[in-house]
Amino acid sequence: MTIRLPSGVDIDHFAVLGGGFMSAKMLCVASELGIFEKLADGPLTLDELQAATQLPRRALRVVISGMVALDVLTLDDGRYANNAPAQEWLSGRGAHDMRPGLRLYDKLMYSMWLQLEHVIRSGTPARPSTMGEEFARIFSEGVEAWTRGGAIALAESYDLSSRQRLLDIGGGTGSYLVPLLERHPALRATLFDLPPTIEIARRRLAAAAVRDRIELVDGDAFFDPLPAGHDAALIAGFVHLFDPDKVVLVLRRTREAMAPGARLFIVDQWMDPTHTQPTFAAMLAGTYLMLSGSGDTYSVDEGRAWLAQTGWRFVEHKPLAGVTSVVVAEAV
Ligand SMILES: C[S@@+](CC[C@H](N)C(=O)[O-])C[C@H]1O[C@@H](n2cnc3c(N)ncnc32)[C@H](O)[C@@H]1O
Repeated sequence: MTIRLPSGVDIDHFAVLGGGFMSAKMLCVASELGIFEKLADGPLTLDELQAATQLPRRALRVVISGMVALDVLTLDDGRYANNAPAQEWLSGRGAHDMRPGLRLYDKLMYSMWLQLEHVIRSGTPARPSTMGEEFARIFSEGVEAWTRGGAIALAESYDLSSRQRLLDIGGGTGSYLVPLLERHPALRATLFDLPPTIEIARRRLAAAAVRDRIELVDGDAFFDPLPAGHDAALIAGFVHLFDPDKVVLVLRRTREAMAPGARLFIVDQWMDPTHTQPTFAAMLAGTYLMLSGSGDTYSVDEGRAWLAQTGWRFVEHKPLAGVTSVVVAEAV
């Protein structure tokens, strides 16, 4: 019998919320164990999946039962199968592979979230469990996986054919730039990021068809001169890493590097005025806080005020993909 409060809330309400890490970890581990890949060709029984994965039978059953319970796998007549989203995004066979995104959560974010209380009490960033090359690789590949939906949506939503040169500030490995340049064959771009990221971008973009239209420039957006000669700027997945003073500084510096009429696209998980919706963006605020000690997900209203302060005219706010949206502005 389920015990409920008079309001109808189940007694497990806080167990499910507080134990959310169990479902998160089980999903990430199922992906790392290659379960979705093994099911890519069709349904398998537990014994067949055990033979394919060489995992202990009962432990494997725990994980795949959990995936059925979470509505990631289906179970019919003793055979386990990827459901449609798992087949498309986690099996390695779809057009878009989200396994590196789960790896980022599993290998980097999970251990950082263990430090949440300390981060909140101290205002200092969480320490990553791994550093250097490995951190950078898992981080870049994961960010690419999570940003691809928004990048394709941005490229499809905006006609940049009147623009000549786009400056991508904190552009990472070019996950936004590549679809934009593919869509706009006359557009050229500068990817500006910190030196270690530019090195990774150089390797990851080497084989891209649009590589000859991308200039890579390393520097710090808060201290080094921003490259001049652009009539559009993109700041994607960047402002959430910093406190409002730094956001204002980068918007001002970007404006100073552009002529009147230039367009600015700020892609992020923009929030409602109460900072409570979208729900997942409210959770991401915790991740951004941990990464830098002062990150956050900001509201569109905050963004509008910062733009007005820094020489930009707010044009519009549009959804892109999932909880990601874009604020568009024009240099005045
Ligand atoms: C979350 S990633 C976003 C990458 C890319 N724009 C995207 O959306 O896929 C944030 C990027 O900002 C870069 N970054 C952080 N601080 C920076 C700074 N002070 N100057 C330039 N880039 C910076 C990081 O190296 C990283 O590539």
